[in-house]
Amino acid sequence: MTDQSLWAAVDAHLTDALLPADPVLDAALRRSHDAGLPAIAVSPPQGRMLNLIARIRGARRILEIGTLGGYSTIWLGRALPHDGRLTTLEFDPAHAEVARANIADAGLADRVEVRVGAALDTLPTLPADEPFDLVFIDADKNNNPHYFTWALKLTRPGSVIVVDNVVRAGKIADPADDSPFVVGIRAMHELIKAEPRVEATAVQTVGEKGYDGFTLILVTG
Ligand code: SAH
Ligand code: DHB
Ligand code: MG
Repeated sequence: MTDQSLWAAVDAHLTDALLPADPVLDAALRRSHDAGLPAIAVSPPQGRMLNLIARIRGARRILEIGTLGGYSTIWLGRALPHDGRLTTLEFDPAHAEVARANIADAGLADRVEVRVGAALDTLPTLPADEPFDLVFIDADKNNNPHYFTWALKLTRPGSVIVVDNVVRAGKIADPADDSPFVVGIRAMHELIKAEPRVEATAVQTVGEKGYDGFTLILVTG
């Protein structure tokens, strides 16, 4: 077995061992695949981790940057109480259309709004007086420093910010790699370290989506 197939087999085992059967999420992935969307959603165990973080936090307002077909959106939206709200930002109208169908089929259309446009254009339109309890950053990684800055502006002490794909198969630690997404992730981490209002860590992950990681940030002040 290569590492990748072993990681995928363990993910399949863990999903089977710990997660209930989920025909709604299975159908969401099938519709995304049939519509030609890339298979880059979070894995089932990662999706459930997002759901659990939202519930541990008691999140009532959630912001997601990068919707794709709404797979992570559904995991997060399910963590909300009935009067909770999730806003998810997506650049590609075709992705947003698939996501809206998946969100509706998951019974979350009343709580979830998909806003189409470049996130740097839609973020300034969000009300600053209704802070989010949880922000999930998962869009174009070169803009991560901007997304972190916006997330901080739109949250309050006690809020949680999670950033996906911060390791990228180890490229983040390769000094010779200056690809825009690598530069964006590193610059975001520099901002986080210099920011007295947050405390953060990052954890490497392996699984069906390869070798990557996430950054977990608590807004403290
Ligand atoms: N969160 C999803 C995966 C998101 S993939 C999940 O885990 O299920 C990244 C998404 O970000 C893609 O759909 C892509 O179109 C979108 N994206 C890329 N650039 C963007 C931008 N500038 N603003 C908003 N969304 C963007
Ligand atoms: C990729 C994976 C992601 O989870 C994402 O949000 C964007 C891109 C990728 O593997 O290319
Ligand atoms: Mg991602």
